[in-house]
Amino acid sequence: MADKIRVLLTEEEVDQRISEVAEEINRDYGGKAVHLICILKGGVFFTCELAKRLTMPVSLDFMSVSSYGAGTVSSGVVRIIKDLDEPLEGKDVLIVEDIIDSGRTLAYLIEVLKQRKPSSIRLCTLLDKPDRRVKKEVTVDYTCFAIPDEFVVGYGLDYDQKYRNLPYIGVVEPDEGKTNV
Ligand code: IMP
Ligand code: MG
Repeated sequence: MADKIRVLLTEEEVDQRISEVAEEINRDYGGKAVHLICILKGGVFFTCELAKRLTMPVSLDFMSVSSYGAGTVSSGVVRIIKDLDEPLEGKDVLIVEDIIDSGRTLAYLIEVLKQRKPSSIRLCTLLDKPDRRVKKEVTVDYTCFAIPDEFVVGYGLDYDQKYRNLPYIGVVEPDEGKTNV
């Protein structure tokens, strides 16, 4: 049976907020080129929508990471599945993520990327679950929405690889019609 999805943020709300955050980024960078690093796969929809609204010169690269020990408490060590194509030296890097939860992935990633000597590294996320943060040192420069501790899908976020393509952010509701036998 299909999962029930409750809308948390509509497509209009998300798009409107991305425009606001893009304006803030445009102001902060003052025309300086920005190198966007999209964290696959979840960050891809947000990266596209954000990049279209940026007015400075923009370059794009992609990285895919996965935490060791899926399903258990992660050690905070992240495996790079797909590395960047371009060096970062001298670039103003803006990491674009779908969601920051414990912060373990980003805490590790930021340390790895710093060693490649970019001029600056900032972090931009579509969603943040601040109540879940374990790695307090992760500072988020741009957040579209802080949300409560609920499992969300859509706009790039998945549940078992499903629902990434939903144009809104929703919460998967347990199917109450289902009984355990
Ligand atoms: P962190 O290392 O705990 O911050 O993990 C962040 C990653 O967990 C995100 O990049 C997502 O892939 C995944 N994640 C965390 N919360 C959710 C959620 O509510 N829906 C879908 N994926 C999530
Ligand atoms: Mg992610």
